[in-house]
Amino acid sequence: MQVTRLLLLLVAAILLTAAKSHQESQPIFPPQFTKERIVGGEEAAPGLAPYQVSLQTLKGQHFCGGTIIDEKWIITASHCVISQTPDKIKILTGTQDLKDNTTSAYYYPDKIVMHCNYNSPAYANDIALIRLNDSINFNDVTSKVDYDYAVMKADDELILTGWGTLSLGGMVPSKLQTLKVKYVPYEMCKEKHNNSSWVDVGHLCTFNDKGKGACHGDSGGPLVHDGKLVALVNWGRPCAQGYPDAHAKISYYHDFIRTTLSNCDKETTEKPGATTQPSLDF
Ligand SMILES: *[C@@H]1O[C@H](CO)[C@@H](O)[C@H](O)[C@H]1NC(C)=O
Ligand SMILES: *[C@@H]1O[C@H](CO)[C@@H](O)[C@H](O)[C@H]1NC(C)=O
Ligand SMILES: *[C@@H]1O[C@H](CO)[C@@H](O)[C@H](O)[C@H]1NC(C)=O
Repeated sequence: MQVTRLLLLLVAAILLTAAKSHQESQPIFPPQFTKERIVGGEEAAPGLAPYQVSLQTLKGQHFCGGTIIDEKWIITASHCVISQTPDKIKILTGTQDLKDNTTSAYYYPDKIVMHCNYNSPAYANDIALIRLNDSINFNDVTSKVDYDYAVMKADDELILTGWGTLSLGGMVPSKLQTLKVKYVPYEMCKEKHNNSSWVDVGHLCTFNDKGKGACHGDSGGPLVHDGKLVALVNWGRPCAQGYPDAHAKISYYHDFIRTTLSNCDKETTEKPGATTQPSLDF
């Protein structure tokens, strides 16, 4: 039942996409259906977000944001990579302008690690890590950002960045957009979303004003507070209608990130006993 409903949503979203009017009331679509992009932001000043990357198809089409957190690792949302394999995507670094290749460089993934509980419960654990097959050359316009575990307070300010349409169904800008948003505590966020189970403790919510938000901004992209990464864009109610947006909270996924980056997941090549144990079935 649940699966059918999700598929229907997806089909409906594909058919309607941006044509869907933002005037009418809609459920909270996760960004795989709405291609979350920033509304009401402004062009990012040069050098604002050297950690920002663009996830692209091999043909160079931008589809999600991401963040450099290590020489070989990009963090993004699981829903951005759910239908991808490492050989189908490339990562643009070193530019805030998708059309300017003077300082940019592409890197290629060799591994994508989604959170094992992505979408269970629905829309939860929407975080993924992408390992590159080569180390990123850091420079003036390309660097990693540290991630933070600090507890945030109501109204703390975060910087959201992303490429995308400036309104629902609008144009995709080539220049990175930015918007200052404020931290919304979990209980308040949940209440604003009518206590929906979609908002869980792994989310960090933000709000600016009606008409401003991570609506049709870049899914998977960074939210930075005091120069440190604290969240990545997950979903919102399209489009900047006055509800807080929900993002994956980095501090909540600390373990997932540390464990994955240290490459300490061991793969067993042999199922224990599979070849030597006789069957106990009769
Ligand atoms: C990384 O992958 C890309 C695309 O497959 C390939 O062109 C490149 O040579 C690889 N780089 C390294 C260092 O293996
Ligand atoms: C919450 O419920 C109210 C009243 O039914 C409705 O107007 C509003 O759009 C709902 N908000 C969300 C985020 O679903
Ligand atoms: C959400 O839950 C809180 C705490 O249980 C309750 O006080 C509030 O009325 C609920 N809000 C909605 C919109 O259901």
